[in-house]
Amino acid sequence: MSDDPLPPSSQAPAPGRTTARTAAVIPAAGRGVRLGPGAPKALRALGGTPMLIHAIRAMADSRAVSLVVVVAPPDGAAEVRTLLDAHALPDRTDFLVVPGGESRQESVKLGLDALPPGYDIVLVHDAARPLVPVDTVDAVIEAVRDGAVAVVPALPLADTVKQVEPAAAPGEPEPVVATPDRSLLRAVQTPQGFDRTTLVRAHGTVTDNVTDDASMVEQLGLPVVTVPGHEEAFKVTRPLDLILAEAVLARRRLNDGF
Ligand code: C5P
Repeated sequence: MSDDPLPPSSQAPAPGRTTARTAAVIPAAGRGVRLGPGAPKALRALGGTPMLIHAIRAMADSRAVSLVVVVAPPDGAAEVRTLLDAHALPDRTDFLVVPGGESRQESVKLGLDALPPGYDIVLVHDAARPLVPVDTVDAVIEAVRDGAVAVVPALPLADTVKQVEPAAAPGEPEPVVATPDRSLLRAVQTPQGFDRTTLVRAHGTVTDNVTDDASMVEQLGLPVVTVPGHEEAFKVTRPLDLILAEAVLARRRLNDGF
């Protein structure tokens, strides 16, 4: 019989993962230039409340999340601490604020470096996705508790996607080189959930610039799985997204009377 360890996909959940404590790291250090001029994106108001506070509440709404680490703009940690003090947040959750870095990847790494021991499951959630429902957060945590080392919420695509030869200058026609089968594609969101040891290893090993954390785990050759995402977990990137986010909030207020 081989002494090789079982491949991760066939391993049982790590002992204690079913009861493991969960921390959320929120990278919020981006400037958000695509939204236009103004404050850093995470500090822009939605329904009168900064986007970052919505994102923090979205994580803290999950009873499984007991710590939220906010990665602030490099020169904005004090401002973010003041912001947290000024808004009602659940008592059962602890909060830490650390300064971020030049790239999203660096900011997440700085957040991971600040994590105290005792948290075996880590969520990474973009501040730019302020409206993710708690059921999606819980579904991600549940899948990690059940043994997955990396979990991403994902949705099927509405648009057909083309691979192109990027143009030399913006606005120039771009030759299409392929049309991937849309039924095999998914748009992924956050929070992405991880076994902490795996995510720390990924951030210590992968140096390529990536746009999400799960792809770093993929580069380690480990399995990443999806759970259903949610249309309200969209990323606020462009001015139109702000209008959509305000509309979602207005509908929630009508429905919940809050
Ligand atoms: O730029 P993009 O929309 O992909 O950013 C995703 C998330 O990463 C945002 O919440 C943004 O604040 C964060 N970010 C960061 N540090 C950077 C750049 C982006 O924390 N240097």
